[in-house]
Amino acid sequence: MNLKTIISLFLISLGITTSAQEISILRSSLVGNRIAEFIPKGFDKNKTPSLILASEPKSKSKLPSDWPLVPEFTLKNQKASAVLKLSGNISLYGGGEVTGPLLRNGQSIKLWNTDTGAYSVENGKRLYQTHPWVMGVREDGSAFGIIFDSTWKAELITNSNQIIYNSEGALFRVYIIDRKSPQEVIKGLSELTGTIKLPPRWALGYHQCRFSYDSEKRVMEIADKFREKKIPCDVIWMDIDYMRGYRVFTFDSIRFRNPKILNDNLHKKGFRAVYMIDPGVKVDKDYAVYNSGTQNDVWVKQNNGEEYHGKVWPGDCAFPDFTSPKTRNWWGGLYKDFLNTGIDGVWNDMNEPAVNDNDFPEDKRLGTMPYDTPHKGGGNLPQGSHLLYHNAYGRLMVEASYNGILKTNPDKRPFLLTRSNLLGGQRYAATWTGDNYAGWDHLKLSVPMSLTLGLSGQPFNGPDIGGFLGNTDGDLWANWLGFGAFMPFARGHACAGTNDKEPWAYGAEIEKTSRIALERRYRLLPYLYTLFYESSNTGMPVMAPVFFADAKDSQLRAEEQAFLLGENLLVVPAFAKNPILPSGIWEELSLVDGDKQDKYQAKLSIKGGSIIPAGKIIQNAGENSFDPLSLLVCLDKDGKAKGNLYLDEGDGFGFEKQDYALLIFTAVKKDNTVVVKLSDQIGKRNSSQDIKEIVVNLIFEGKTYTGTGTLKDGIKIALK
Ligand code: NOJ
Repeated sequence: MNLKTIISLFLISLGITTSAQEISILRSSLVGNRIAEFIPKGFDKNKTPSLILASEPKSKSKLPSDWPLVPEFTLKNQKASAVLKLSGNISLYGGGEVTGPLLRNGQSIKLWNTDTGAYSVENGKRLYQTHPWVMGVREDGSAFGIIFDSTWKAELITNSNQIIYNSEGALFRVYIIDRKSPQEVIKGLSELTGTIKLPPRWALGYHQCRFSYDSEKRVMEIADKFREKKIPCDVIWMDIDYMRGYRVFTFDSIRFRNPKILNDNLHKKGFRAVYMIDPGVKVDKDYAVYNSGTQNDVWVKQNNGEEYHGKVWPGDCAFPDFTSPKTRNWWGGLYKDFLNTGIDGVWNDMNEPAVNDNDFPEDKRLGTMPYDTPHKGGGNLPQGSHLLYHNAYGRLMVEASYNGILKTNPDKRPFLLTRSNLLGGQRYAATWTGDNYAGWDHLKLSVPMSLTLGLSGQPFNGPDIGGFLGNTDGDLWANWLGFGAFMPFARGHACAGTNDKEPWAYGAEIEKTSRIALERRYRLLPYLYTLFYESSNTGMPVMAPVFFADAKDSQLRAEEQAFLLGENLLVVPAFAKNPILPSGIWEELSLVDGDKQDKYQAKLSIKGGSIIPAGKIIQNAGENSFDPLSLLVCLDKDGKAKGNLYLDEGDGFGFEKQDYALLIFTAVKKDNTVVVKLSDQIGKRNSSQDIKEIVVNLIFEGKTYTGTGTLKDGIKIALK
């Protein structure tokens, strides 16, 4: 026996092997329309529970023998991996929240949710969320998507000829969707992991945030300024300084003395109020939330049975163990009194969870609690270490928050924003891309980041417009807002200690530009709301990559400056240099006086063959947008166009009982006349109560023709 053999026998006796063991597939089956499930031999749900799937796949049938992609599983030192070998020229996407290019060939990311200011940790390879998901688009436009159904700490490598997922935990299942287009694959993803819930209409307006508007007085000054200056806005955000010493679910007794009055006053002016709630609860024996948590035994404990404490804003904090259903229920219950002050929405932050603690070596915790910290589990979830549950902590927190918010206000649609999340967590919360900084590179990066989240099941997302860290100048702000106004979640935010970043903070010229950008967004609210409705049904991204216009056109695959809003609107940011745009008829649109001439505004183009519903300029989403309804029409080469408008109450759940209208408009050109009419309506809402008059703007060969009419009679336009 040589030394090498002796060493390897010794390592094997300790359970350590030097080479990977191949693991065969125990079962492979179809669990949906061209969705395959692969279960490796030795897979155990009690070691790798699924927190990604919306429900366990039920119907299973035989996998066709010519199924194109099959994972190869291996195990090395009890750490499971899967590899997928690719053949042909494939464009890769996905991975959720990532920095770097939209096209993910030759990239790698670390899946370990991390508080990463300016995306600086490990060169931006490790961000706040975990999406073990890759989508591939073949040359012929057909596509596949792969879910690695695991939350263990992991790495995801997307080489052009193979996809490698290395986890630091037990074996996991793999799901592969293989369909005729990327859109169909995204639908498959939502069939497995669910979709966003239809948000309240106000959440699609502009949001104004700062860390922090730190008194009731300052909040009202900001709100009043929006109305005085006639800059549309729906939401003012309360960051951590509203709290009493950063204790969650409390209000500072001097600066936020009467939140009920503050929220009422905001409501009177057509604003909504969103307040932050972090997971860390200050360890303080005089604090009701801490005492209640202790009595209910909800805290994460260390292996020795003592409460785990870690430092966040208020100093030492205890952390709810969200793996336990009892804890989630307890947490949900805390929202009752809090929301009863008239709070409209909730912002869950720091929920990786981020812990600034030096008591444990960094390589055994990576910015959070130590790897071996136990979580108790319960319900469908087994007991497990932090290494298993870390990436699901934010996702379990938002499940608890969402359910608590809904329980408090069963007749309102919850609006919840989260920093940390997991693939599938779109079912509970919208997201933003964390702490970017005020620089051109992060402005440009915000487009592929948002697109990639949209391609990973999370359509409701956006960056801190203007940049969070560092000072922002007017030029950067106006460029960012010029296209940020068309991102699904549009919020300006600023870090403590940075300059004022409201739309009026940069002088008169930029104020005017900001107004135009936001007026354009508000005009498009009917279209945007329709897109969110569709997305809540199908999982389709609201903001989509340009290659969605033609998945067979390989030229479009890497375009990451321009983007689509739905299928029918192309947005080319002012910064874009030589963007590669889809072919076919696209006509430039003007939505607000002076927008085409303003150098900061994104260029908007409508697709031939489409009808985009638009409203008038309003100051908040609660105002009547359809007075009148505009239909922006662009004919295809056959002289036809089609488009949808979804409308409902704007909040609540009446739409689930048919109180909505999905209007389908068509336009047909015959000789020199174009007839635009309502050709179908789905849902029971009486839409003529909302829409009295219709104005059609038909853009034809660069010229705009206008006509008016009603839903009943339709509109005739003569092309001269
Ligand atoms: C970190 C968040 O990312 C940021 O948006 C927020 O302003 C600060 N926490 C303070 O709460």
